[in-house]
Amino acid sequence: MSAFAVLVANIKGGCGKTTIATHLAAAFAAAGRQTVLADVDRQRSSLGWLERRPASAALLTGLDWTRELGGAVRGADRLVIDAPAALKTRQIEDLVHLADLIVLPVLPGAFDEQATRRFLTKLDELKPIARNKKSVAVVGNRVRSHTRGADRLDSFLNEIGHTVVTRLRDSQIYPDVAATGLSIFDVPGKRAGSFRTDWEPLLTFIENVGSVRQP
Ligand SMILES: Nc1ncnc2c1ncn2[C@@H]1O[C@H](COP(=O)(O)OP(=O)(O)O)[C@@H](O)[C@H]1O
Ligand SMILES: [Mg+2]
Repeated sequence: MSAFAVLVANIKGGCGKTTIATHLAAAFAAAGRQTVLADVDRQRSSLGWLERRPASAALLTGLDWTRELGGAVRGADRLVIDAPAALKTRQIEDLVHLADLIVLPVLPGAFDEQATRRFLTKLDELKPIARNKKSVAVVGNRVRSHTRGADRLDSFLNEIGHTVVTRLRDSQIYPDVAATGLSIFDVPGKRAGSFRTDWEPLLTFIENVGSVRQP
């Protein structure tokens, strides 16, 4: 069976796609899964991160999908796909077709809401999603708890029939670890540990979907 594939996508730039894709890949690898990280974005941020990744960190394999999407990845347990912001309808369909699950990062704020609304509407119209064959996990990113922005994000999503699977806090730890090809799943210490708790609902969600697919 081919790898269980998680697509990280949103047509909004800077919402955390690469941060989430690299973190999910590192979390899977840390859990002992054979993991492949495929970069579709011409900026190659995920591939750059992989190049910086030290040999001592949990092993990850990268794939350059910037020119062409690859097919099924044999021999791997997990495939994480980092998508670009600029996506044509056809590309969205192709990526969703390859994915078992879609993770959609969204930042609090009106500009992000507009883009997310358009993207979610488009996704919800796709057959596998409309028929509940593939789920979309919305992740609130850079959320400061107990702020107006956080509440607004919740009510906006509620309006369009979605809720967040989890909220990731805004922290300098993310750019810091990314600078050396790492994630908060690769570094020891209490601080990283505290931020890892933000990811638990998403990782559990993914594991649950994965275990349903793989009998
Ligand atoms: N939760 C977060 N806290 C702080 N900075 C973040 C967080 N998520 C992303 N960033 C930063 O925001 C910028 C854009 O994130 P990135 O993952 O590259 O977005 P995208 O791939 O969607 O363009 C990067 O500099 C990244 O380090
Ligand atoms: Mg990116």
